[in-house]
Amino acid sequence: MKLAYSQDALSSIKADVLVIFVASDDKHFTTAQKVIVAEFAEAKALFSAGDFKGKKDSSAQVYLSAGARSSRLLLVGIGDADKVSLEGLRRAAATAAKVASAKKLTSLAVQIPGGLAIDAEGCGEAFTEGCMLAGYKLTRYFSDKERKGNTLESITFCSANKKALADAKTGAEYAAKVCEGTLLARELAQTPNNDMYPEKLAEAARKAGKEAGFSVSVLDKKKIESLKMHGLLAVNQGSKRPPVFIVMEYNGGSKNDKPVVLVGKGVTFDTGGISIKPSAGMAEMKADMHGAATVISTMVAVAKLGLKVNLVGLVPSTENMPSGTAVVPGDVIVYTNGVSVEVDNTDAEGRLILADALMYAQKYKPQACIDLATLTGACVVALGTVTSGLMGTDTPLKNRLKSSGDYTHEYVCELPLYEEYEDLIKGDITDIKNAGGRYAGAITAALFLKRFVGDMPWAHLDIAGPAMPSSEGAYIPKGGSGVGVRLLTNMLRTWK
Ligand code: BES
Ligand code: ZN
Ligand code: MN
Repeated sequence: MKLAYSQDALSSIKADVLVIFVASDDKHFTTAQKVIVAEFAEAKALFSAGDFKGKKDSSAQVYLSAGARSSRLLLVGIGDADKVSLEGLRRAAATAAKVASAKKLTSLAVQIPGGLAIDAEGCGEAFTEGCMLAGYKLTRYFSDKERKGNTLESITFCSANKKALADAKTGAEYAAKVCEGTLLARELAQTPNNDMYPEKLAEAARKAGKEAGFSVSVLDKKKIESLKMHGLLAVNQGSKRPPVFIVMEYNGGSKNDKPVVLVGKGVTFDTGGISIKPSAGMAEMKADMHGAATVISTMVAVAKLGLKVNLVGLVPSTENMPSGTAVVPGDVIVYTNGVSVEVDNTDAEGRLILADALMYAQKYKPQACIDLATLTGACVVALGTVTSGLMGTDTPLKNRLKSSGDYTHEYVCELPLYEEYEDLIKGDITDIKNAGGRYAGAITAALFLKRFVGDMPWAHLDIAGPAMPSSEGAYIPKGGSGVGVRLLTNMLRTWK
């Protein structure tokens, strides 16, 4: 997205559509009406008809007369000025982007609103997010090469106030880089298994590293065998395609700073294995590498922003397939930390591969380790698609995630790891089993992971719900949402 900034009046800007936010409370609406009509006489009829009142999620378009620099003015309602939130602005921007994209417009100019509960930096950030993230569609496979989900290519921010303009720029430039990450995560997550199997995922990580500036090394099956990653190998056993273990490193901090390690589940397709899933809806499981997509894309955003932090990304990746060589229920895996696991259900494969990655993470002695995984249907049952589940051992880390979740609206909601739940995954002939039955499935999955985190400050995000929403949101597509990139980048932005 091209971003530009201007101190000129909106009416003097040339763009496909000019956007003004209008608040609905009497005070603001009355003034806005006067100011808008003074600049754009064409809007008079709209206001006298009373069709537009600045209500949240409403919008109205006015065509400007032949002499005007731009031909369209779009008014977008944001509700009561005192109650306007970042999320409200993201949604309003999304409305503008969708109206523009429906007409295949490419350039938009917006007046930075004053007198709101949100400052200009927040406005720049939220507006850019809404504009860039709305209407996303994976269009690569359509034969119609013109087809695009979101057609916007440029945004011009306008304000006569120099300080407001500079602040909006700070917010917009930050958001643009983060959103590039989110969009990449969506693309990776939504790409089907025949174009996104483990080696392709590794290739995508390499390409991302080259473009954004972080190192990528890919451990192949032989190396994975020599490292005795028995969980990853067990899940991969049924698959023709080999596994990979991707290691990404970005050094933005000082040399002696211990890194933050991100771990992402990279199951490029989850059939369930021998404990096979029902066929209805199985295609969704092409996005079972969303955790990996989020980790790769967060590395991209953090590197592009040049954040002053050392960051490591780890991705264990495999398909989960049934076959004559597949792991079967009852099989026993002994991990390198000595923990023995009975594979009670081959569909609980995510935790099996994350265990190896969490042990690998310990080598870095990280300040914090966060894993992200589309881990359990149980988490979706508990929390829906609105929030990820948060579980972990480190309260300060969990608090950082919660406040970034509230800020970005990529919510995280904590579930408890009471030790009483551990009974549910006790094994008969092993230390633990990989499935704990119908109750508390998100928690038992996290308690399984906890056996492999050692003493790292650790948090686990079960993103199964928000990663694959079944319906579209204001700026969130279904089936591969890009969730987590904005959350983690926000947290890392102020890590120190
Ligand atoms: N990838 C799935 C979890 C999932 C389900 C993600 C729905 C997104 C939407 C995971 O590998 C899985 O199959 N989990 C099982 C665990 C069970 C067998 C203990 C589940 O949730 O049913
Ligand atoms: Zn899975
Ligand atoms: Mn599964």
